[in-house]
Order: sequence, then structure tokens, then C-alpha cells
Amino acid sequence: MNQVIKITKVSQSRVSEVNLENITMGTQFTDHLFICDYENGEWTNPRIEPLALIPTHPAAMALHYGQAIFEGMKATLGKDGTALLFRPEENAKRMNFSADRMGMPMFPEELFVEALKQFTALEKNWIPTQVGSALYLRPFMYADEPFIGMRAATTYKFIVMASPAGPFFSRKIKLYAEKKYVRAVNGGTGEAKAAGNYAAAIRPTEYAKAKGYDQVLWLDPYTFEYIQEVGTMNIFFKIAGKFITPNLSGSILSGITRMSVIDLLRSKGFEVTERPIKMSEIIEASKNGTLEEAFGTGTAVGIAMVEEIGNNDISIKFPEDNPVSVMVNDTLNAIKVQDSKDEFGWIVEAK
Ligand SMILES: Cc1ncc(COP(=O)(O)O)c(C=O)c1O
Repeated sequence: MNQVIKITKVSQSRVSEVNLENITMGTQFTDHLFICDYENGEWTNPRIEPLALIPTHPAAMALHYGQAIFEGMKATLGKDGTALLFRPEENAKRMNFSADRMGMPMFPEELFVEALKQFTALEKNWIPTQVGSALYLRPFMYADEPFIGMRAATTYKFIVMASPAGPFFSRKIKLYAEKKYVRAVNGGTGEAKAAGNYAAAIRPTEYAKAKGYDQVLWLDPYTFEYIQEVGTMNIFFKIAGKFITPNLSGSILSGITRMSVIDLLRSKGFEVTERPIKMSEIIEASKNGTLEEAFGTGTAVGIAMVEEIGNNDISIKFPEDNPVSVMVNDTLNAIKVQDSKDEFGWIVEAK
């Protein structure tokens, strides 16, 4: 697909009305949207337009059958003021993985990256500059065909919108090891970034918060022994100097931060193993003094250090000091603003 993106700009940007240095992610949106329509078996009319409401038919299939998927990315500013994206081609690939699982059409990966570049370049003035903050980008796709009946829709919209975001969890987090509700089963949709996965997590997360935790730590649905992932993060543990993270078993999301952190840790000489991890192993390491650090990884949160994992039966407390987690966080943040060399070739300029 070699389509030109038609750009219609707002006459006056709203950016001066917003305090970018003190902003909660997801509450303010930038001036424009990127939109592309899927009709008659192809993606057509890619365009950037002023942000506006989109009329939706009440029978739009996404509202009834949940054909809705999304991505999450962040744009930062480089040293010379160029807007930067972090591994956008990985989001393009994962979006199509999700689309395939949910019976939705593939979006051309080249157009995905080009759309993100042009859109981000246009919204550059909305990128906050405080350390750890960024412009959150939300590509998503949903079925807008008006139809009642169970089949794949024939029309869709692919949209990119953006929201300035301050640093997410700036404090350490407490995770509730959930033993009643489950997030994903083998063969289910846990590996896709499908909207319904998040809907199903809302009530259990509310329960966890009511008990004083920040997020749910999801366990496997068969034995409630194996660790899967956290709300919107993958998880890493450091035990006796070595890192472990749950392997991509088919029911956890393949996080782009996760894959980057694995490469980063290995480049610093750490051993990182992707394998099934039992809760009992973490409890044992805590008892015998070898449990050193744990952190969640995700685009929205970056690196979220864990202070406790608990539920009605257990309470695992992590040591106060977590030097490697801090190093990973600082290195990723530095790469994203070109304060540190991009040895891995992760940064893509948006211009
Ligand atoms: C369920 C889930 N796991 C993990 C992640 C982390 O993925 P990434 O590092 O690509 O943001 C996310 C966020 O996208 C998520 O929603």
C-alpha cells in the first residue's frame, strides 16, 4: 500500500491551554487524529484530521462483539528537538498479531510506522520534557460495521490518538497475587492486546485496590501457582544475582519493554532466563534471602519497582534497595531522550 496521508491541520493548537509538566495520562488529548477506513477488503483514505467526535451506529459490531484491539507507545524529544518513537515496528507487528487473533484485517506495517511518524511530528509540541514523561500514543482498531450477528465485521477504523503523560508509577508498587479471577488461558486471547482482556481485569483490579494493592499479579488459571504478568506490565525477578521472567506461554502479552529489558540486561552481563516461574519459588527465595529485586515493565509505566506481593495467605516483601531496577529505568529513559547511545537501534525519528 503506497498511500499518501492527507493532512488537515487545526487552525489553532490547544497546547498552550495545558500544563504539560503536571498532567495525568489519558485526561488530555492532542489536536489531531490519524484515521484510516477499512472498506471493500482494503484500507483507504489515510488522513490526519482535527480531533473530533466520530458518529457511531448503535449496531457498530465492536460495541456488541468486542472486535477492538489497541496498542500503546510513547514519543519523546531528542537532543535536537526531534520527536522520537521507541521500536514502532514492534507495535505494528503486535497490532497485526492481535488483529489476526480477533478476526480483524491486517493493517500495513509500513503505513502504521509512517502514520505514527507523521502524526507524532505534527503533535511534537505536546511532548512533555520532564524525566520519565512522554506523549502517549494510542493506535487502535475497531469494527464499525452496523450489523447484529456473529461474524467478522466487514468495515473497521484504524485510529491513532495521543495524550501527554507524566511519569506513571513514581513510587514502588504492591501486587495482589490473584487466586480467584484469571486473566488468560492457553488458547484464549491473553496474548492479544484485545480490549476485552482489559474489561475482564477491571473488577478484579478494583478488588485488589480496595485491599490496599496497586495492581493484580495474574497467576495461571489451572493451578494458581505460575506467575503470568501484572495489569499492564510484564514482570521480572532478580534472585541470587540472576534475572527470570515468565516465558511467552501463549497467554501473556509479548511486551516491547520486556523484550528490550531482556536485551539491555544481557548486554550489561546479567543472565536472564525466560521460563515458568512458580509463586512458591519466589516465597522460597524470600525466605532464604536470595530474593533481590522485582519490577514490572510496560510502555505506560516504564519500570515499576515492586515492594510487596501478597494476598490473604502470603506477604512477600522486597529489599528496599533495587539498584539494577533503577539502572534499567534510567538507561531506558536516557536512550529515549538521546542522553545515552542507542546501541540497539531502537529509536526512530518522527519527521
Ligand atoms: C497485559 C499487558 N502486559 C504487558 C504489557 C507491556 O507491554 P509493552 O512493554 O509493550 O508496553 C502491557 C502493555 O501494553 C499490557 O497491557
